[in-house]
Amino acid sequence: MKRVKLWDKEFEISLPHADIQLAIKQMADKMRIDLEGKNTLFICILNGAFMFASELMKELELTDAEISFLKLASYSGTSSTGEVKELIGLNEDIKGRTVVILEDIVDSGHTIKGVIEQLNEKGAKEVRVATLLFKPDALQVNIKLDYVGLAIPNDFIVGFGLDYDRRGRNLKDIYTLVIE
Ligand code: IMP
Ligand code: MG
Repeated sequence: MKRVKLWDKEFEISLPHADIQLAIKQMADKMRIDLEGKNTLFICILNGAFMFASELMKELELTDAEISFLKLASYSGTSSTGEVKELIGLNEDIKGRTVVILEDIVDSGHTIKGVIEQLNEKGAKEVRVATLLFKPDALQVNIKLDYVGLAIPNDFIVGFGLDYDRRGRNLKDIYTLVIE
């Protein structure tokens, strides 16, 4: 078994790159049919979704697609979770547009819920979500995920964009934490 050590923790390979690529290809095949001709704005949530967005956009081959990149900053607020995410770097006017959020993983779902709400407030015609990974057992909110690559167990993972304390994002396979 292939293992990696990041800082003090050990991780074991759980999703080889070929499995990730296949999942992305299947997502792209579905999304291409749904989104052709819609002048879609794809929004990649940085940092985690950069590899997913790159591979998905290449597979999609839409000629009317645009892509933009967003960072989320947390600050204390008065929402039910006590935390509101501010969207940084969205310069496009999204009024009346079909927007597809590209996210690396939906865990509790709080992050993606906040992004969906804010994009709706900015006047998008339609906001869809495409997430490479989804932990169904961790979900705490009521949201619709339009495109899901792979459902995974509720374990901590790294690789293919996801990090443990800034490390591991560059790994092409996905690894699961085994030794804490
Ligand atoms: P949520 O708000 O709980 O859905 O968390 C979403 C964010 O937490 C993701 O965009 C990731 O940045 C991070 N995250 C959730 N699960 C993992 C994991 O297993 N490994 C690394 N980052 C994770
Ligand atoms: Mg993320």
